[in-house]
Amino acid sequence: MKKALLLFTLPILMFLSCASVDQQKYTDSGKPVDERVSYLLSIMTLEEKLGQMTQVNTSDLIDLEDITRYHLGSLLSGGGVGPRTDDPADWADYYDNFQSYALNTRLGIPLIYGVDAVHGHNNVYGATIFPHNIGLGATRDPELVEEIARITAMEVSGTGMDWTFAPCVAVPQDERWGRTYEGFGEDPELVTELGKAAIRGYQGDDLSASTTILATAKHYVADGGTEDGKDQGNSIMDEEELREIHLPPYIGAIEENVGSIMASFNSWNGDKLHGNQYLMTDVLKEELGFEGFIVSDWAGVKQLKGNYDQQIVTAINAGIDMVMCPADYIPFLDSLTRSVKSGKISMERIDESVGKILTAKFELGLFENPLTDRSLTPLIGSQEHRDVAREAVRKSLVLLKNENSLLPLDKNLEKILVSGSNANNLGAQCGGWTLTWQGERGNDLTVGTPVLEAIEQSVSGNSTIIFSQKGDLSDGSENVAIVVIGEQAYAEGKGDRKTLDLTPNDLETIRKIKESGTKIVTVLISGRPMIINEALELSDAFLAAWLPGTEGLGVADVLFGDYAPTGKLSHTWPASMDQIPLSADSEHAGEALFPYGFGLTY
Ligand code: BGC
Ligand code: BGC
Repeated sequence: MKKALLLFTLPILMFLSCASVDQQKYTDSGKPVDERVSYLLSIMTLEEKLGQMTQVNTSDLIDLEDITRYHLGSLLSGGGVGPRTDDPADWADYYDNFQSYALNTRLGIPLIYGVDAVHGHNNVYGATIFPHNIGLGATRDPELVEEIARITAMEVSGTGMDWTFAPCVAVPQDERWGRTYEGFGEDPELVTELGKAAIRGYQGDDLSASTTILATAKHYVADGGTEDGKDQGNSIMDEEELREIHLPPYIGAIEENVGSIMASFNSWNGDKLHGNQYLMTDVLKEELGFEGFIVSDWAGVKQLKGNYDQQIVTAINAGIDMVMCPADYIPFLDSLTRSVKSGKISMERIDESVGKILTAKFELGLFENPLTDRSLTPLIGSQEHRDVAREAVRKSLVLLKNENSLLPLDKNLEKILVSGSNANNLGAQCGGWTLTWQGERGNDLTVGTPVLEAIEQSVSGNSTIIFSQKGDLSDGSENVAIVVIGEQAYAEGKGDRKTLDLTPNDLETIRKIKESGTKIVTVLISGRPMIINEALELSDAFLAAWLPGTEGLGVADVLFGDYAPTGKLSHTWPASMDQIPLSADSEHAGEALFPYGFGLTY
């Protein structure tokens, strides 16, 4: 009897609760995206709309049910946030699980999940790690940059994620800045060309394909122009300079239909970008016609003036569409709700933001395929992808000196000494944004080939490799010494420096070997040009290798003649700290150690 009643009432209850929602009007992929968006906007409650504008860092979720409860629209993995296992399939499970909570909401709007895949899918153990952008700048090869982004999109898709916070299209003007390596180089034209290539690679021709992801041009704008190269600092310049040096990559990104743009932490003439209506709304959205959505940077809204309510009102009214909270989403939603109800933020403004976010979700095909395409997961870190990374490494190396044609080295040399702080240091080779936010030291962080191992694999059986980190074993009987020196991993402001001198240990190693009379090839692993004068002088050959990533074999390819160097500097190389900031059009460009575009071959 009871069962019969239930069978009878259930369809009526279902009909009643669905009466106001005609699912088919937005789930039918045959309908135009703008119709699907308008329909959703017409039936969504205020809570549902504001949830779409909220982005939470997954490790800051208090309760997974909050995804459903607050109708959250987006999650991100901050640097290093995610499953710390060696199996990428765990990432796919991780993603699918979050997604299931979003699908459980009344409207079943899927999450858009963002991650910093800035040189490959770099948070994931075993993923292919490509050179950081500064090295790609030296390749001058847009096809290669596009291919790298295409592969990265595939690896990201293999863990379900939909969106990368890349490419960074900063135009770094001051090497003291800790994010110099995240930009392709000092020249706006180069950054624009390679930024466009990366966006094409990530987004492909069809965003709804399972192998493509949404790209982000970041950080808008003039992040690379701050005073003294200070991260999150103040860019003091007139509008003409801003438009000439820092804006062009965004014009290019919009030409490629970039899906999102991230606001920058820095200020322009004292005003934080996160609150700048002129630059975000008037210039970006209206003048340049950007149709995607603007995401804030990590808690960037909280750097604005006033109390939290005022900060949020300023940011949203200035043009930010989605707020990377990243943690305090409950106070954020309370505050945003209050400001909409009191009229400080208009409903039109909210609908505009939500409409753009929903448009991206429809275009990505998230409603049709919200879960991970598991056929892509095994491609993560595949040999085919690593081969492209190796090609990128060899094309990114810049040969700065090659006295008496020391390079290429013969693979049959009897005895080779390998030394230096970074010879056996996969962590340093990969740099920041690798497995963790700041990166790591040593060889355990992920799967890859340190330069030492690459050299061992490249020489013939007749050759003996002696490894001595500090060059102690050198007695002059070696045919050559390969000394790999440079910076240890860092990210963002933690990499800001007052001086860019080599460490005393690195210099000591080179001096010691020089005293023994052995010829020296120095390989510099660094996120930027450094002050290398003495080391350069003592070396017979010198290679700038930037932050090459996991494929150390690309370095060996150049050392041993499998690839004659083609890399060209994407920065003017300073001879001393007091020349910085220095670029090709600086007054003192003629006094640089090496000009922009320099690069030898053999
Ligand atoms: C960085 C962004 C990054 C974001 C998310 C911020 O601190 O400035 O580049 O995309 O964190 O990890
Ligand atoms: C996160 C990064 C973020 C940074 C900002 C870190 O904890 O992992 O993604 O950029 O905080 O301070």
